[in-house]
Amino acid sequence: MTIKEHAMGLMLSQDEEMVRQTAREFAEKRLKPLAEKFDEEEAIPRELYAEAADLGFFGILIPEEFGGLGLDYTACIIVMEEIARVSAAFEVTLTVHNSLVSTALVNFCNEEQKKAWLPKLAKGEWIAAYSLSEQGSGSDAGSLRCAAAKEPDGWRLKGGKAWVSSAGIADFFIVFVSTDPANGNKGISCLAVTKGMEGMTLGKKEKKLGIRGSDTREIHFAGTRVPAFHLIGEINQGFKIAMTQLDGGRIGIAAQAVGIAQAAMEEAVSYAKTREQFGKKLAEFQATQFKLADMAVKVEAARLMTLKAARLMASGQKATQAASMAKLLASQTANQVAYDALQIHGGNGYIREFPVERYFRDARITEIYEGTSEIQRLVIAREILRG
Ligand code: CAA
Repeated sequence: MTIKEHAMGLMLSQDEEMVRQTAREFAEKRLKPLAEKFDEEEAIPRELYAEAADLGFFGILIPEEFGGLGLDYTACIIVMEEIARVSAAFEVTLTVHNSLVSTALVNFCNEEQKKAWLPKLAKGEWIAAYSLSEQGSGSDAGSLRCAAAKEPDGWRLKGGKAWVSSAGIADFFIVFVSTDPANGNKGISCLAVTKGMEGMTLGKKEKKLGIRGSDTREIHFAGTRVPAFHLIGEINQGFKIAMTQLDGGRIGIAAQAVGIAQAAMEEAVSYAKTREQFGKKLAEFQATQFKLADMAVKVEAARLMTLKAARLMASGQKATQAASMAKLLASQTANQVAYDALQIHGGNGYIREFPVERYFRDARITEIYEGTSEIQRLVIAREILRG
């Protein structure tokens, strides 16, 4: 499928199509030759993030007045799918930065805070991370314990955060902390923390199954002083900020999953057209054809649902249910399609010379982070039953 046909299928505007082509060109030229290396070396050079920043990909959702592109969620997921199609590890840094953190500042910060932080985020001078989970609170995010005690001119942080995507390369973190432990999720606040604040240390780089180029770590705070200016939104309103941001974030992960699934399907198609067994190309066997047909249907359905959720967000409507539905379907699709693509490759799919092995490993996390598939079902069911 050409890019144009692909775009027409999605009914993209001319501007959105241009965004897609820019992202595809960057992904193909700059990331594709290195994607395997990111995985092997478990790192991505900062210069490549700088190149993405030059294209505006660190400021997609940031208004132009603060140095961003001022585009909407649709444009954002278009970029995310194209990047993830080549490197899911690169994409996760971008999606967290754009849809979890930048929009938190746009939505909840005052003008002074926006002026202080958004231009740095928009230009990729600062890479941003979102820090909600802890060793003891993953799915039950509201039970977090990392504590911020009030002081006359700010906050004193004690505790730890876990599985923080981009932690080792991030300069700016939004951190969800308990400011009123007796009040559960109504006692959580959101603080901005910058790299190098006293008493803040990073854990070891986690050794992961997939998205290995992405730098995931714990963060520890041993009495870190955070100025009063760094409170995002209202005190004890942090959980709502965390949840609101996850609506957008989940669409970014859905787009990541669609990108991985698309890549796996493309590899399966090209392998099936060249590999011969029993005197025929694999593509001539109906068993292969049916697998490919199912892949194509699933990928398209996941893409359309992701686009719908993004368009809802872009039009300012509530997208909680649509985002969870898109993430659930897209992440399951990525796993199923990567599984089938690997199966079509047979023994070759199990070795690292063929990229399906990486797609298979990368797909797995999409059913876990930004809410497991079980949490997406819980969110969807609650929304349906709410009526
Ligand atoms: N938007 C706005 N507000 C929301 C909301 C949303 N989507 N969802 C919930 N809220 C509000 C509720 O209205 C409620 O407020 P009121 O009491 O005033 O009505 C408040 O938040 C509490 O909501 P719940 O009662 O639903 O809270 P809960 O404790 O039952 O659980 C949950 C909610 C959906 C299970 C939530 O804990 C959750 O999403 N868990 C998964 C955590 C998660 O996704 N973590 C991702 C980590 S980040 C990450 O992975 C990034 C990365 O590395 C890539």
